[in-house]
Amino acid sequence: MVKVTAPATTANIGPGFDTLGLALKLYNEYTFEEIDKGLIIEGCPDIYKNKKNLVYRSFVAAAEKLGKKVDGLKISMKLNIPVSRGLGSSSACIVGGVFGANALYKGRLTRDEMYELAVMLEGHPDNISPCIYGGLTASLIENEKPYAIRYDISNKLKFCALIPDFKTSTHEARKILPKTIDFQDAVFNLSRVAVLLKALETGDMEMIRIALKDKLHQQYRGSLIHEWDEVKAICVKGGSQAIFISGSGPTIMNITKDERFPVRIKEGMSRLKHNWEIKMLETDNTGAKVEIL
Ligand code: HSE
Repeated sequence: MVKVTAPATTANIGPGFDTLGLALKLYNEYTFEEIDKGLIIEGCPDIYKNKKNLVYRSFVAAAEKLGKKVDGLKISMKLNIPVSRGLGSSSACIVGGVFGANALYKGRLTRDEMYELAVMLEGHPDNISPCIYGGLTASLIENEKPYAIRYDISNKLKFCALIPDFKTSTHEARKILPKTIDFQDAVFNLSRVAVLLKALETGDMEMIRIALKDKLHQQYRGSLIHEWDEVKAICVKGGSQAIFISGSGPTIMNITKDERFPVRIKEGMSRLKHNWEIKMLETDNTGAKVEIL
């Protein structure tokens, strides 16, 4: 029996569309056990208890790479990462399945090989990279091969996630984006990504605030997030100016050094129409972990 622990992730981080990502101390756990025959899935809603399950499909993909046929498998899950909220739950499922197969079948896939497979299954690398390597990552794809690099991040920075009671679809959130962008907007974003990475390392809140701005995706996606303007206004009033859409949303993330920030926004957030969970999170620096039980 093996257990994989995979962290939540927040992708894009303002200007770093499809590039930047960060692992957070919020985890899903997946336990895998060989059984005689068939598939048993526990710990998730009934609609996911079948062969279409993303953890299972990712497990099978890794098993195929190892030349193993999956005859009987039991998967038990402890899910803490909210689904379809822009916190990397699908990346965690994929990483869980891929790492689980490699560990259960005593495979020899390296972390980098599993990374390649996981990115192929997910389609883009910005959540998978921090989920596997931990910390703050920048990713790119060259000739269909993904590469990730880690950056240091100040441990004084905390991430306050505002997680609503509604979902958004990444597919819809990508469809809404323009096909081409203005040259000046490209410069606006790439200058900010470069500055942001250093500012996140030093923890310079003023530079983080300026460098978090972006012109590639958030202005379009705001329309898919109910109460986006109201939430931003409450955060600003509560003292945060470092706000971004986590991944493709709808979670709204604040970067702050103020432990009391959740208290400052609690009342304002509670007056909104939707229910928004306020969750303070720290950076996970380890990435996915495997235990042999
Ligand atoms: N970079 C992706 C996007 C993350 O913003 O569409 C979503 O998984």
